[in-house]
Amino acid sequence: MRIAVYPGSFDPVTLGHMDVIARAAELFDRVYICTMVNGGKSPLFTTEQRFEMLCAAVEALPNVTAELWTGLLADYARERGAGWLVKGARSGTDFDSEFAMAQINRSLDAGLDTVLLPARAELLHLSSTMVREMIKYGRPLEPYVPAEAIRLMKGWGSDGKP
Ligand code: PNS
Repeated sequence: MRIAVYPGSFDPVTLGHMDVIARAAELFDRVYICTMVNGGKSPLFTTEQRFEMLCAAVEALPNVTAELWTGLLADYARERGAGWLVKGARSGTDFDSEFAMAQINRSLDAGLDTVLLPARAELLHLSSTMVREMIKYGRPLEPYVPAEAIRLMKGWGSDGKP
């Protein structure tokens, strides 16, 4: 069984993330999406909100499971029996940082390799940072965020709409 982990902070989940998730779900038998804390960022949504949006967005994908994890990614992958980490890359800058993280994760677990999926051209501009800006200025989120996540944001009153 080929098991992969797709980690991220998902603040919030975007259609770019969903594209990587759908492609990973085709490549692997089982994909665990790991909602994590990125020590370098202060999130807009709470960990529980980020996780809830992700769970709603992947509910229809039968071989995909979203979970929360606060420890090292390599430890989570080992617990789930995963041999691969999946990451999306939109640019050379993404590639450089993912390349460095891949080395660190392999040094933590020699059996853990990283698969980088290049972003589709039409999604290259899309990032959670950009979505947070759209929320700040009350712009429509439909072109960037899965509908299930928008529905939850509206319920929390945090979709940026007055
Ligand atoms: O969506 P993000 O914010 O780019 O995701 C970054 C994330 C959470 C995947 C990265 O910060 C991470 O792997 N954190 C877990 C801690 C860890 O395992 N660090 C060692 C590998 S660099």
